[in-house]
Amino acid sequence: MTVHFVGAGPGAPDLLTIRGRDIIAKCPVCLYAGSLVPEELLGYCPDGAKIINSALLDLDAIIDECVAATNAGQDVVRLHSGDLSIWSAMGEQIRRLREAGVPVSVTPGVPSFAAAAAALQSELTLPGLAQSVVLTRTPGRASAMPEGESLDNFAKTGATLAIHLSIHNLSYVTDSLIPHYGAACPAAIVYRASWPDQKILKGTLSDIHEGLTKEIERTALILVGPALGGDGFDESCLYATYYDRRFRPQSARDEIKTPEGTDK
Ligand SMILES: C[S@@+](CC[C@H](N)C(=O)[O-])C[C@H]1O[C@@H](n2cnc3c(N)ncnc32)[C@H](O)[C@@H]1O
Repeated sequence: MTVHFVGAGPGAPDLLTIRGRDIIAKCPVCLYAGSLVPEELLGYCPDGAKIINSALLDLDAIIDECVAATNAGQDVVRLHSGDLSIWSAMGEQIRRLREAGVPVSVTPGVPSFAAAAAALQSELTLPGLAQSVVLTRTPGRASAMPEGESLDNFAKTGATLAIHLSIHNLSYVTDSLIPHYGAACPAAIVYRASWPDQKILKGTLSDIHEGLTKEIERTALILVGPALGGDGFDESCLYATYYDRRFRPQSARDEIKTPEGTDK
C-alpha cells in the first residue's frame, strides 16, 4: 500500500494532470490541503472514500492517518496545491513515512508561478532580457530564509523573480528590488491564478502597490523583471531562418551559420 502525493495544480480543477485524477479515483483515502486545493477535485474520489481536510491536522495526525490506512490495506492520495517540489511540506511527510516503512509515489502538478505567467500571457525567459527564473519568498513567521537567499542577492542577477508567500510584504519586496532593477522595472501581481476570482495587477516596482486591495492579502504571486514588460526583446535563434538545427538543417554540410550568413 502506498501514499501517493499528487500536485493538485494552482486552482482550476481542469489543471490537474490526468495521472493525478486517476490516482485520486483509485484511492479509498484522500487527505487534501484544504486551504488551496479546489474542492471539485474531491469529486474524483471513489464512492465511500474517507476524505480528510489536513488543514485541521498537525504533522503527527497526518502521518497517523496515512499509516493507519496503509496498515489497513488502503492506498492514500495526498493532495497539495500547485506542484509538490516547492513549499508543499512534502519533504517532512515523506521522511516520516519512510521511517514508518510506508512506500510513497509523487505526481507533479502545475505550479502557481506557471499559472500566473499563463494568466499574464508572459514568457518569463525572454532572449536578451532574462534567461533565469528565481522561485523565492521573503521570510515568514514559520520560515526564516537561509543566509545568502536574500532578495538583494537574487536581484543582483537581474533574473525574473517569482516571489511567493510575500504579498503581505510588498513594500519590503519593492524597497529591496528598486536599487537593483530600477523603479521603472515591470512588476505584476497575480491573485489566485486560474481560480474564477483571479485578479491581475500590472505596473512597475514604484507603483504596483497602488492597485492592491484588502482582498489581495494572500494566495498571490509577485513577479518582477524586465521580461514582464512589453515587446522590447530579441527573437530567439530557435526559429530563425539562418539557424541550423537537427530537424531543420540549413545546408547539406553539418555546419552552423551565423546571422551574417558566414559559416563558422
Ligand atoms: C504554500 S505555497 C504553495 C506553492 C505551490 N506548491 C506551488 O507549486 O505553487 C503558497 C503560495 O504560493 C502562491 N500561490 C499558490 N497558488 C496560487 C495561485 N493560484 N495564484 C497565485 N499565487 C499562488 C502564493 O504566493 C501563495 O502564498
